[in-house]
Amino acid sequence: MIKKKKLKIAIDSPAAAGAGTLAKAISKHYNLFYLDTGKIYRFIAYLKLKHPKKFNKNFIETKIKSLKVKDLQKNDLLTEEVSTEASIISKKKKIRKLVFSFQHNLAYNPPKKYNGSCLDGRDITYNIVPDADFKFYITANIKTRALRRFKELKKFKKNISYEDVLKSIKKRDKRDLNRKISPLKKTKDSLLINTTNLNKRACFLKIKKIIDRKLNY
Ligand code: C5P
Repeated sequence: MIKKKKLKIAIDSPAAAGAGTLAKAISKHYNLFYLDTGKIYRFIAYLKLKHPKKFNKNFIETKIKSLKVKDLQKNDLLTEEVSTEASIISKKKKIRKLVFSFQHNLAYNPPKKYNGSCLDGRDITYNIVPDADFKFYITANIKTRALRRFKELKKFKKNISYEDVLKSIKKRDKRDLNRKISPLKKTKDSLLINTTNLNKRACFLKIKKIIDRKLNY
């Protein structure tokens, strides 16, 4: 029996550009395993904040080995404190090395019931899944991104201001774009999708059209 080739979609984007929402919709439509790689860095950042004394290579390694996708769905990982810490720890070579195989393995060997995988993050298109069938760089202007993130956070944290969220996203962009190891960048072979003036449905349809054209649906 000829094994059907699995589809691989790689997405990179700055914070709060709408990549997660889009990746989820695309994954659902094409029955792909979805991995939000930012959540892995958030999980490690959360461990650091919660267990500062135990936080070392062995501790992180053990936690990653037993990491289940459902562990990444906790609301605790969504706070601004965790976001900031995630962008600090993700600059470290040792941390990135620890998470590489977890991400790489799920991208190339998703659970059998899926037709492939879709990963989003900062270094997916050129580091984790360099031979992806489709590569997208999803962005939006910074004020739009901050407003989206502010609305999201407002749902579970009342005393937060738009200005603080804007400041925090600017700092995170700076760290993610300027770090030496695996910085956020748009590769030449990634398609640029600017979501500033597009609603969720319009973004989804734009990407779907690109994928369907190549897959000859
Ligand atoms: O995507 P999200 O905002 O949840 O990511 C949190 C942080 O994790 C980012 O600001 C970035 O510093 C880091 N990250 C990364 N590489 C990835 C995904 C996320 O460095 N592939």
